[in-house]
Amino acid sequence: MRVLVSGGAGFIGSHTVVQLVAAGHDVVVVDSFVNAKPSVVARIEALTGQPLPLHAFDLTDRDKTEHLFSTEDIDAVIHFAGLKAVGESTERPLDYYENNLGTTFSLLRAMERHGVSRMVFSSSATVYGAQAPVPMHEDLPTSATNPYGWSKVMQEQVFRDVAAANPHWRIALLRYFNPVGAHPSGTMGEDPSDIPNNLMPYIAQVAVGRRDRLGVFGADYPTPDGTGVRDYIHVEDLAAGHIAALHRLTQVDDPVSVWNLGTGHGTSVLELLHAFERACGRELPYEILPRRPGDIAASYADPTRAHTELGWRAEKTVDDMCADTWRWQSQNPEGYPE
Ligand code: UFG
Repeated sequence: MRVLVSGGAGFIGSHTVVQLVAAGHDVVVVDSFVNAKPSVVARIEALTGQPLPLHAFDLTDRDKTEHLFSTEDIDAVIHFAGLKAVGESTERPLDYYENNLGTTFSLLRAMERHGVSRMVFSSSATVYGAQAPVPMHEDLPTSATNPYGWSKVMQEQVFRDVAAANPHWRIALLRYFNPVGAHPSGTMGEDPSDIPNNLMPYIAQVAVGRRDRLGVFGADYPTPDGTGVRDYIHVEDLAAGHIAALHRLTQVDDPVSVWNLGTGHGTSVLELLHAFERACGRELPYEILPRRPGDIAASYADPTRAHTELGWRAEKTVDDMCADTWRWQSQNPEGYPE
């Protein structure tokens, strides 16, 4: 298949591109590089051993998107492109709605015009909202607590409505839990452009000496050690989930499928910190801070549907996630070169 990967220079996108090429697909990447450095492209090419067809523009530009579909013979789209920082989304809601919905509208329009009907969409467990029981399964109602989350809920609704109107669509909504880890080679990983918002990149930057200590946001949650529990999933497992979903879309009858991508296991903040200490071989300083507004106590997946329908399951352990993140961070202390 010739697969267009939007946001293919990003953290999850880059790992998925490498696996798509390894699985024998032709890959075309489109990325605006607002949240990715161009030097990731050379790393992808080094791993695949081939040049990466790349279009550098913002998908909200409908003319450029149309031109891309006219010149490349696309069979399917994996759509990662989007803004993703929860806190920032509350400060710049219009940017989040405009960008995240706009890229999706632009892609869907071009796909309709060019008869491309297979789409794998990067959704999030955030669509389960603040009140969901754990483990979270795909049939729970959706809601959100911030503009980023609402933009995912809204995009899911757009896909459902589009598919209801035209049942030739085959759309996968993949709800990720907490993506972490890095390529086992140590050459690709997560590279936040600012102070990390997320736990794993923050811990990694403490370990490499870029930050003094980890702030643990709350130790009074109703969890075994009082700190927040999440379902961390290795980016390599996540990437494999996309390829499984892409293949499955050629066999399903339903226009829209929803699959959780998680391990089904919860890990607390302190458990992740201690796992990272084992990976990097030293104790890491931390302090307990107040809860972060909007955080929930525990989030982990019921991954049964993905096991049964995709034949996919997460294989890597929390220790693998920490070892690979540490390899990436220690070999690239400042992330990708400018
Ligand atoms: N945490 C800290 N200190 C930090 C950062 C995080 O203690 O410096 C804690 C949080 O309070 C939480 C856990 O670590 O308990 C995980 O926090 P992350 O920010 O890494 O991840 P979240 O679960 O908050 O958010 C992630 C994604 C979102 C997505 C959400 C729900 O980043 O995009 O999962 O799926 F919306």
